[in-house]
Amino acid sequence: MARIWTVYLLCIFLAISCTLAGESAWNGHTIPGSRTPAAFTPYFVPAGAKGYDSASPLVHYSGKWTDSYSASFVGKTLRWTSATKASVTFTFTGTGIEWFGSVDKRHGMADVYLDGRLVDRVDGYSSVARKQQRIFWDFDLDYGKHTIKIINTGKKSKQATGKIIDIDAFVVTQGSAAVQQTAPQLLAPGGQNLVEAAPMQNSAQWILKQQGTTGVHAMQLAIISSSHAIIMDKVEHNPLTIDGHPAWGALYNLNTHAVKPLHVQSNSFCAGGTFLGNGTLINVGGNPVVEDTTAAADFGDVDGLQSVRILEPCDSEDTDNCDIYENHARVRMASPRWYNTVLRISDGSAMIIGGSTKGGWINNATTNNPTVEYFPPKNIQGSNGLPVHLAFLVDTLNSNLFPIAFSLPDGRVFVAANRDAMIYDWQTNTEQRLPQIPNGVRVTYPMTGTALLLPLSPDNNYLPEILLCGGSVVDDTKASWEISSQDPASSQCSRIVLSDAGIQAGWQVEQMPEARTMPDAVLLPTGAIVIVNGAGSGISGYGNVKGQVGASNADNPVLAPVLYDHLQPSGQRFSAVGMPKSDIPRLYHSVATLTPNGDVMIAGSNPNLDRSEVAYGTEYRVEWLKPPYMDAQRPVISTSPGKVGFGQNIELKVTLPPSSSDVKVSLMDLGYVTHAVHANTRLVYLTTSLSDDKQTLTFTGPPNGNVYPPGPGWLYVVADGVPSVGLKVMVGDGQGPPVDVGALENLLKSTDPDQYDEAKGKKAGDGSE
Ligand SMILES: *[C@@H]1O[C@H](CO)[C@@H](O)[C@H](O)[C@H]1NC(C)=O
Ligand SMILES: *[C@@H]1O[C@H](CO)[C@@H](O)[C@H](O)[C@H]1NC(C)=O
Repeated sequence: MARIWTVYLLCIFLAISCTLAGESAWNGHTIPGSRTPAAFTPYFVPAGAKGYDSASPLVHYSGKWTDSYSASFVGKTLRWTSATKASVTFTFTGTGIEWFGSVDKRHGMADVYLDGRLVDRVDGYSSVARKQQRIFWDFDLDYGKHTIKIINTGKKSKQATGKIIDIDAFVVTQGSAAVQQTAPQLLAPGGQNLVEAAPMQNSAQWILKQQGTTGVHAMQLAIISSSHAIIMDKVEHNPLTIDGHPAWGALYNLNTHAVKPLHVQSNSFCAGGTFLGNGTLINVGGNPVVEDTTAAADFGDVDGLQSVRILEPCDSEDTDNCDIYENHARVRMASPRWYNTVLRISDGSAMIIGGSTKGGWINNATTNNPTVEYFPPKNIQGSNGLPVHLAFLVDTLNSNLFPIAFSLPDGRVFVAANRDAMIYDWQTNTEQRLPQIPNGVRVTYPMTGTALLLPLSPDNNYLPEILLCGGSVVDDTKASWEISSQDPASSQCSRIVLSDAGIQAGWQVEQMPEARTMPDAVLLPTGAIVIVNGAGSGISGYGNVKGQVGASNADNPVLAPVLYDHLQPSGQRFSAVGMPKSDIPRLYHSVATLTPNGDVMIAGSNPNLDRSEVAYGTEYRVEWLKPPYMDAQRPVISTSPGKVGFGQNIELKVTLPPSSSDVKVSLMDLGYVTHAVHANTRLVYLTTSLSDDKQTLTFTGPPNGNVYPPGPGWLYVVADGVPSVGLKVMVGDGQGPPVDVGALENLLKSTDPDQYDEAKGKKAGDGSE
């Protein structure tokens, strides 16, 4: 089973991180009220989970075991053995199990069995001695009674000086029985319920499969290569460990489901991200240092509010040299931003939009950062690297965080926030206001909706059209206690064509079959749109409104995806026929993305301050929504162009399914997904011609960087609605975005790094939602 493999790899990574340890950038755990770093201990019992000490009578030992006592052990006791074949057995009821113990030079290897099946061999060797470490974990067991058995193999690594294994504690994720699967709600086009399902062929089946766990909670998600996705989280007690502390970012292997922890130094809580024109990924903004007032522990993280975290291109499947780079002295934003949107624009650089200057919840005039800035920094109308004021972000208070933004085919940028929208010319710093979104619907945090730029096509000269779906009509001037988790979400989708005539005609409104706040809209290579995730009531965030579920500000999870066909006439665009229903609520901090394979990766949900196992708990399980085309005979691309220049004609060798008639090439940006914002998500149809023997498909690269901002993209050949596997290409010349050295130097000279870091005696932001 793949899960065994996953766990196995996880533990290898765990072992590696233990071995390579060195305390490097890690500045350690600080006790509340103190500034002196101490060793961080990952042992943690989230709300809704249960800890069992090594001395618990429910834990059964066989062979020779010895007790050790110390205040630094869980429950002040630890049980260890050097005896080969000595074992420990523990039976529990739940969905997950964690084993905590010590690691050091004297530790050897243990075999771990779950329900009689060997699932892993773990090595407790570490050059650095650490206590209360998570030695093994598995979080996706079926709900029920399970037994973990750990046997000392008597084997050790070469460097190890002993063959010790020890037990400090177990933590059981109690979970609950899966929600009874009900037949998916069947909806006719337009949304009315159907009494009977239309008979369905097997080949037209949508399949939802749960496989893999993310190790760090999936707050932010982006596909970085044909084999990997990056997952970014906030600073919290994730099970995946690095250098003896929880990891807050990871690389997820799409093929093996293994995860590799990343070194993230600063708090990436509610950051945004984008690829640049040269393929480098940046992750921007975040939260201040997590303190005891805002989390269950101090983790020794660095202030993330001005961070620009860099992941250089990482295309090899081994990901050996892939990690996050941070250096706030040289690489940072001019101003602090929490909940900013990051967008790649027509010259391949990043536009960083809005956010608040400190964490909190709904934005207000005190916390607002109504500006844009760029990475690399630009000189716009004399800004010389510093932020450029945007009146739109003042006028759209309060519910205007994580603005919706898309680069348009004329080089300008569409922005929506709260109930408003505009087109922004970043070169001249001018705003063209658009009609207000109808019926009082708000679409940005915490009244979160989702949005897409509909596919662009040469057939209508890349006429742009925006789709907004979901959100809330809750009044954003209300106090938190006047808002309820039961306030209904909006079912409204609104579309506007961004031509003079389209703007004149205004927003066209239609209704989703089910209302959603926090939905994710995912474009498929066929041009179809899948809307997943979200809640039927409440709003984003946690710990604010009345009637919270756990800490969630939202309730009534929407469990079935719905399909949207933007080419159909209004009233016939939605369909949920045959869509499988999940039993995993995906509320605040959920994500979904198209993968290179063509299926949809769905992950996340964590409306909590820290990891929690109380509903709605922290969700690590991944689901894969597989469109029917995954089982069809698919086109195959057998050449790899590497680079796609603007306007360049390129030949692809293809094998098409027999008698293919309608053949298209979709150039896609899979986006950077967080908080229902799918920044950069894009589908551009390319002009194509097929050779007579149907083996050579010639396509023309997009005309310019306005139509497709230079940077990474994915080519899918779509034959009669069935896409190939996506092929990664670099669109444009692959050169970096322009660097204005004067603007960069001025930014560094005129602004401080980590301005709000309390450790520097400055005013602290202490946001937590
Ligand atoms: C603005 O938001 C911050 C952060 O949530 C909060 O601390 C502050 O009280 C708010 N100010 C006003 C005037 O509501
Ligand atoms: C891409 O450009 C950025 C910004 O100038 C730079 O930091 C990064 O190192 C570049 N990446 C590559 C691969 O050259």
